[in-house]
Amino acid sequence: MAPIIAENSIVLSADDKDSTLADRNTHATRVAGKDADPEKKALFANVTKRIDYSPKIGTELHGIKLSQLTDQQSEELAAFIAERGVVFFRDQDDLDYKEHVRLGRRWGPLHVHPLVPHNQDNPEVIVLDSRLSRFNTNDSWHSDVSFEPAPASFSILKFEEIPEAGGDTIWSNSYELYDDLSQPIKTLLEGLTATHSSDIFKIQTQDSGRKTFGKLNDSEHPVIRTNPVTGWKSVYTNPVFTREINGVSASESKWILDYLSDLVTKKLQYQVRLHWERNSVAIWDNRSTFHTGVPDFRPYQRRGIRVTVSGEKPFYDPKSGTQAKSWEATAKAIIAKQDAAAKAKEDAASKVSATTA
Ligand SMILES: [Fe+2]
Repeated sequence: MAPIIAENSIVLSADDKDSTLADRNTHATRVAGKDADPEKKALFANVTKRIDYSPKIGTELHGIKLSQLTDQQSEELAAFIAERGVVFFRDQDDLDYKEHVRLGRRWGPLHVHPLVPHNQDNPEVIVLDSRLSRFNTNDSWHSDVSFEPAPASFSILKFEEIPEAGGDTIWSNSYELYDDLSQPIKTLLEGLTATHSSDIFKIQTQDSGRKTFGKLNDSEHPVIRTNPVTGWKSVYTNPVFTREINGVSASESKWILDYLSDLVTKKLQYQVRLHWERNSVAIWDNRSTFHTGVPDFRPYQRRGIRVTVSGEKPFYDPKSGTQAKSWEATAKAIIAKQDAAAKAKEDAASKVSATTA
């Protein structure tokens, strides 16, 4: 069957020549950002404004053109994204498909999605177009392609077309989800693995008769995983792709998965929300965050372009640290700064009263 080519050269239906594209997916052989300067001086030399959306997740950086990063800056950015979970950029009009792909390749091999439509000339560039909404999974919390043996480390999403209203994306902090669990539950989850499946895509292919671009995988991953860049623990199950917890009964598996999903959905303090503008870019670490689109924008349409970087095979190291532990030092520094500012204000006020006495 010949592919149907839509506007902007999007392949809507796979033909035979595409059927092995996703089979070449592989895992990262190095951890992008792991050896970056902890202070990220090269990256922040260009930053003109930093807006933290919440203390522990989500930052918007101004002054950066993603198409013009040096090697050192892109390494530091990878580390910064792993720490902040998701980082936002505005006005990235010059990040065309070629530069988008080049940025992703700096951090690892690019994933070819087995089902989502892709750009004809760049199979690593997938197109999230609301006109093809039956192929979108963006109205439920998930971590990108967690069904793969080496799931996504980073996803880089740019919106070329945005709705006149609505269509935000929300991310949730999986480090904090882990940190807030009680010790007995942490201990239980740290010994478990879960099966992640591409069932949702299998159903779509059965319903539509569409061929895929490659294998629809199932994979077993630890329920708690270590982020290799930060060394922090996070929960790694999600409602879209995690089929079951292994080694427990079906009802226990359902209880655990429902409980964790409930926390992701309801705990507002874990979440940040981005209101997209045309040419906004979000880059997130799938190993330690979940995300969902907000399906509120119909009848408007939107069209996003995503490049997905394959990471390492997920692992759990019991000796890993936590964001909570690291946060203690950050919180202390914030308190010390506030105290110093308050004291300076007091000293200035007492100087004025001494002068006027
Ligand atoms: Fe996604």
